[in-house]
Amino acid sequence: MAAGSKKSSDAVIRHAELVRLIDYHRQRYFVDDSPEISDAEYDELERELRVIERDHPELVTESSPSARVGASTVETFSPVEHRVPMTSLDNAMDHSELVAWGERVVKGLPEGEATAYVCELKIDGLAMSLRYENGVLVQAATRGDGRVGEDVTANVATIAVVPKMLTAPEGVVIPEVLEVRGEVYLPIDAFERLKAAKERENVERIAAGRKPEPVPVNPRNAGAGSLRQKDSAVTASRGLAFWAYQLGEVVGGPVFTSHHQTLEFLRSLGFPVNPNIEVVDSVDAVDAYCARWQENRHQLPYEIDGVVVKLDDLAQRETLGFTARAPRWAIAFKFPPEERTTLLRDIQISVGRTGRVTPFAVLEKVFVGGSNVEMATLHNEDQVRLKDVRPGDTVVVRKAGDVIPEVVGPVLALRPEGLEPWAFPSVCPCPMKGELTRPEGEANTRCIEPGCPSQRDQRIIYFASRGAMDIEGLGEKTVFQLSDAGFVSDPGDLYSLTVEQLLTLDGFASISAEKLLTAIDGSKSRPLPKILTALGVKHLGPSASEALALAFGNLDAIMNASQADLASVEGVGEVIAASITGWFAVPDNRAFIEKMRDSGVEFGNLEVSRLPQNLVGRNIVVTGSLDGFDRDGAERAIKDRGGKSPGSVSKKTDALVVGAEPGASKLTKAQELGIPVLDEAQFVALLETGEIPG
Ligand code: IVH
Repeated sequence: MAAGSKKSSDAVIRHAELVRLIDYHRQRYFVDDSPEISDAEYDELERELRVIERDHPELVTESSPSARVGASTVETFSPVEHRVPMTSLDNAMDHSELVAWGERVVKGLPEGEATAYVCELKIDGLAMSLRYENGVLVQAATRGDGRVGEDVTANVATIAVVPKMLTAPEGVVIPEVLEVRGEVYLPIDAFERLKAAKERENVERIAAGRKPEPVPVNPRNAGAGSLRQKDSAVTASRGLAFWAYQLGEVVGGPVFTSHHQTLEFLRSLGFPVNPNIEVVDSVDAVDAYCARWQENRHQLPYEIDGVVVKLDDLAQRETLGFTARAPRWAIAFKFPPEERTTLLRDIQISVGRTGRVTPFAVLEKVFVGGSNVEMATLHNEDQVRLKDVRPGDTVVVRKAGDVIPEVVGPVLALRPEGLEPWAFPSVCPCPMKGELTRPEGEANTRCIEPGCPSQRDQRIIYFASRGAMDIEGLGEKTVFQLSDAGFVSDPGDLYSLTVEQLLTLDGFASISAEKLLTAIDGSKSRPLPKILTALGVKHLGPSASEALALAFGNLDAIMNASQADLASVEGVGEVIAASITGWFAVPDNRAFIEKMRDSGVEFGNLEVSRLPQNLVGRNIVVTGSLDGFDRDGAERAIKDRGGKSPGSVSKKTDALVVGAEPGASKLTKAQELGIPVLDEAQFVALLETGEIPG
């Protein structure tokens, strides 16, 4: 008994806490347009509350959040009482919850009755009720708490696709009163424009020594902010749009028997009704629809966060009715969240093989977009400043589909007092502590210490990678071990490693040590173009390496060639030629070459000089600067393998390769269209294998 009462007193405490938390976050979300937690985290609170209330019905009160939706309104816009309440929907978080809902529906209907379901996209925007009297738009109201919303007519009237006056097609009678419910949303491109404009403003602010202003984090919040403007001209400039999906109060007009008829009616009156709506006759088909749209959600020009499934037959809806907060005849199937909030524990920097220094976010582990995220690049110093993220901030992390995780921005309301902006370090994190410099007018900071161990490790990792010497089993971890033990100081040292040395390293036994040495030995006969690529000369990628190998035949001829001779090779040019002669002029680099020669690496193997035509039919777009390729080099590498490299991203694009300072619009477009985004290492692997990772 004692255990039971302890359990129920825990439930009372947790219930009170959840009520307080939910009320607080509803206020932040619905009224302030400034949520502090992601939708998924909020949903979790609501679910927990419902479970407690299911097990302890005595805790349910009239004011319980589970009996209400939304938040009470603020007095900025006049209140509007909804004559037909704007209820929320229950959620299904996975397949089994969807099936359970389907079973409840069938159980609630007379035995043997057939059911049809209307599947609709769940638009991630703001619910709106549009009221037409005798065909004229007289009022637009937000949902508010479901009973009372806010009058935003003046602002909604600026939305081009919202009909202001209805014209009936032949034979159709317009109801005296027609309430159309739907979602106001900001299309992704309009959001990107708004965000870019705010970022530009912030660049100017920072330059003028002022603080940057918050940049909208996602289309939903930006849409909400746009709708709540005091000045309708501002709303008009934002490009909001609308999808109609439900009727509210209706007086007069045609009589409908099914939901899909109501949608067709709305379409005939000129309302935008989403073209992807489908009527199906089983929960299995609903499930297939959900799976399809979960997969393809990024191909849409607006954001969706799930699928809404509604029973089609209006009489059946009557039979099922409502719970305290939602209809029993509909359910929202929620996609796994692609945005979560988490703690930004630190901002650290990493040093690439050419010395480029990249800041990255160290995050409290968070499951988002289908995987755990602990780190995310922050690109460069300006990006950190523009986003105004500081270690200790709660940040919004986004990982949409296959794309690289991104820190969207801080949740300013949760910023601890006195949190200092992050300052870019002035020295390299490696033991040599080389000086970091950022040349005037450049976005990248570099470590200029030639002996920098971090750069050295990265060079070795690159040397051993798939597109270069392809040494199996020599990954990052082993390279760090070899380097820490002092066994390698450049890639040439790999060839004199011994079993005895490897056995001193953690995780190595005789078999694994032998295996690694065999793999290293096997790399000695790699063809010349691979060796040239592996050297890690800035701008010298696979294509130019191929061209040079064919033109000169062996490494010595290339080493001794003049800059002009190198530049005259088709596909090489001045930039690469200068980089090559500069590289060979460094004594340490020459020493590395000699180590390779002494250990028997072949420098004139042209065996597989014909490039595999593994990119035929592929469209690979490149944006930003890459370390191993000059401007045209990456495109040439694609074309040399039979692929195409157009200048812009479209539906036909198979992958987007992203270097430093990528074009924002290309990246955004690729993300919208769900196109895989590759970094340089993945690009080199793609050239090698013809396979797009992911
Ligand atoms: S129907 C009683 N249909 O999702 C039916 N809602 O979690 C009420 N939403 O408040 C809503 N797309 O803001 C419906 N196709 C759709 C929707 C949709 C997005 C939103 C709406 C609603 C919330 C429910």
